[in-house]
Amino acid sequence: MDINKISQVFEDFQIPEEPTFVSDHADFLMNYVIPNSVHLSAPKYIGHMTSALPYFMMPLAKVLIALNQNVVKIETSKVFTPLERQTIAMLHNLIYANSEAFYRNHTHEADGALGLFCSGGTVANLTGLWLARDRILGRKTKQTVDKVGLWRSMQAHGYSDLVVLVSDKGHYSIKKAMHVLGLGSESVSVVPTDKNHHIRLDILEDRIKELRKQNVGIMACIGIAGTTESGSCDDLLAMAELCEKYEQDGDPIHMHVDGAWGGPTIFSNKHKQKLAGIERARTVVIDAHKQLYTPMGAGILLCKDPKDVKAIQHSAQYIIRKGSHDLGKFSLEGSRPGMSMLLHSALNIMGKQGYEFLIDTGIERAQHFAQMIKEHKAFELITEPELNILTYRYVPKKLRGKTEQLDNQDSVNRLQVSLQKKQRSMGVSFVSRTKFYVDKYKQDLNVLRVVLANPLTTEKDLEEILDEQATYGDQLSK
Ligand SMILES: Cc1ncc(COP(=O)(O)O)c(C=O)c1O
Repeated sequence: MDINKISQVFEDFQIPEEPTFVSDHADFLMNYVIPNSVHLSAPKYIGHMTSALPYFMMPLAKVLIALNQNVVKIETSKVFTPLERQTIAMLHNLIYANSEAFYRNHTHEADGALGLFCSGGTVANLTGLWLARDRILGRKTKQTVDKVGLWRSMQAHGYSDLVVLVSDKGHYSIKKAMHVLGLGSESVSVVPTDKNHHIRLDILEDRIKELRKQNVGIMACIGIAGTTESGSCDDLLAMAELCEKYEQDGDPIHMHVDGAWGGPTIFSNKHKQKLAGIERARTVVIDAHKQLYTPMGAGILLCKDPKDVKAIQHSAQYIIRKGSHDLGKFSLEGSRPGMSMLLHSALNIMGKQGYEFLIDTGIERAQHFAQMIKEHKAFELITEPELNILTYRYVPKKLRGKTEQLDNQDSVNRLQVSLQKKQRSMGVSFVSRTKFYVDKYKQDLNVLRVVLANPLTTEKDLEEILDEQATYGDQLSK
């Protein structure tokens, strides 16, 4: 059923007066909800970052719901507090690899946290930037932002403005966070990228110097480990060096890494070099519901220094009392599910080797798919896969071999949209689309986008997807 038709089934806005049998309602779910949801775990669904789950997640999710723990405080979750703290410590260790003594001291300490469990990457980015804002507006005077608000605290700290620096490939959650934090989306100082979608370091350095001269506070400098559109990774090492170079007395530059997608690349001995320098970031985001293969609703903010979370600490008398181990002291959310149990289980069941296999397989498959596209006369590869995401486009028959000369791309652009919609409507396979500036053509182009995170996607699936797209493309461009 198409979305307009299925929406009609959900038009009634009154709660039924009379109870309904559970079996009757189950029939409703079987008839209208299950068949009209998206088959995200299908091997040929390769368009978005939501993919298949390991088989053991379903029974574990049932256990989680049966226990229905609330990890805001120990009184409503008990073992879930040390379990969550251990899960975060495992990921912290993966990124920062501190000493055994460091983890013995900090994993379960009441007065700090190695990171915070959130509902996803958006809230994890927001929490990281909240923490960065409250650190920068909490150092020089007692007029801290949590007490006197943004306006008075900025004045007291002598800032004319406050910004974050991020490339033009930054996820839109950064703008959303700046909106929520009272700074507005114009406080995102957008730095251009090079032809491979990496932040331009020369422009970043000039921008930092300029902001310093204007007395604008640099709340955070954000590196991206796996951009949403093409999976590219900024040069995090060079960014960390810039942040340290322009650190002024009492005015550090908080480096934040958005590794919501690409963070788990660190599991791969072959590819972790792409994230070199991540360990120098003050905060790092990793989404568990992306490449750590847990169900939706799990993102993590890691904090290099466990004391940083004190900048956003809150307590109350009846709950999360001062000195308690309650996780709710530092989290944006209050009541919260024990999602960490699912990640804790996955990390134990699959281990480092299991995750390494998943990461390596995805990247190898993307490299192979890129080669298939290059060899196929009907397609043009637009971005090489740095991780497991790539972009390409269909080239109409009459333009093949001539794409270099194309100066007006309008009809080719429109064709990508109709091809992608046609493929989606047929329901056999799914590839997404996006639009960005392509250096080779000096203009914005519509491109097809593939995310290869499902280990069950085979080479044959990929061949069939290209054949299907070529058929639609040929029909639509006749
Ligand atoms: C790089 C990046 N950061 C942040 C997010 C936001 O994550 P979530 O959708 O879990 O809120 C995404 C989501 O696609 C992303 O790709």
